[in-house]
Amino acid sequence: MTKKDLQLAYALAIVCFVVGIISYAAFPAKTPDTPLRLMFHSSAGKIWFDHDTHADQAGYGISCEDCHHYTDPYKCGECHALESDDESVPKRSDAFHKQCIDCHKEGGAGPVECSACHVM
Ligand code: HEC
Ligand code: HEC
Ligand code: HEC
Ligand code: HEC
Repeated sequence: MTKKDLQLAYALAIVCFVVGIISYAAFPAKTPDTPLRLMFHSSAGKIWFDHDTHADQAGYGISCEDCHHYTDPYKCGECHALESDDESVPKRSDAFHKQCIDCHKEGGAGPVECSACHVM
């Protein structure tokens, strides 16, 4: 390697480094972490939801899109408001009840009784 080659290599390395930093800062990883377990708080008590077991192939193997009928955003409450006058979009608790309980009923597995989900 000549001295000039070496200078070129250094220059390239610096360019890559700077571009890397700029890309990192300009396009941060936006996707939130996939949760393992979630606890919902409601006026009827807390609900545990084992997200990992529901989604994992070694668990119940449900595909993401079956629950996240919109993956951007992942949070249901971004669209399903706590209170809503808009009948075309179910409010938050109705959206959860419908999705969770309908599947448990259809599959004949998973809790459908109030107290089996509202455990605390
Ligand atoms: C059985 C239904 C179900 C399945 C299957 C499922 N999720 Fe979820 N996920 C939920 C629920 C419910 C929440 C809580 C949403 C909320 O708090 O509004 C959630 C939350 C999340 C969040 C956190 C969102 C945030 O902003 O904190 C991410 C990320 C996510 N899920 C990704 C995934 C991915 C990726 C898969 C597939 C590998 C998946 N989910 C499978 C129901 C499910
Ligand atoms: C980007 C907005 C958005 C997000 C995020 C979202 N939804 Fe929805 N959801 C809607 C809209 C709009 C409707 C009504 C029209 C339709 O069915 O698409 C709906 C309808 C529903 C319904 C009724 C479907 C039926 O067959 O009657 C359920 C249940 C539901 N959502 C549950 C959830 C759950 C649970 C989550 C989170 C895992 C979630 N939604 C995330 C916008 C959203
Ligand atoms: C698409 C189907 C599906 C959806 C949606 C779903 N579940 Fe389940 N759930 C299952 C299956 C399958 C089981 C396993 C039952 C068994 O093996 O006894 C289960 C089991 C459970 C259990 C008991 C065992 C465990 O893993 O903790 C709880 C609690 C539970 N679900 C809560 C929820 C809640 C809360 C929601 C909504 C946020 C939800 N589930 C949505 C399919 C579903
Ligand atoms: C499969 C699990 C599951 C079952 C079964 C279930 N719930 Fe829920 N419930 C939830 C989830 C999840 C939420 C939403 C919590 C949140 O908003 O974060 C909720 C929310 C609620 C809320 C709060 C509503 C609000 O607007 O504050 C009430 C009240 C409630 N449930 C009552 C009941 C009753 C009564 C039954 C039986 C008829 C029942 N639930 C059965 C999971 C369940």
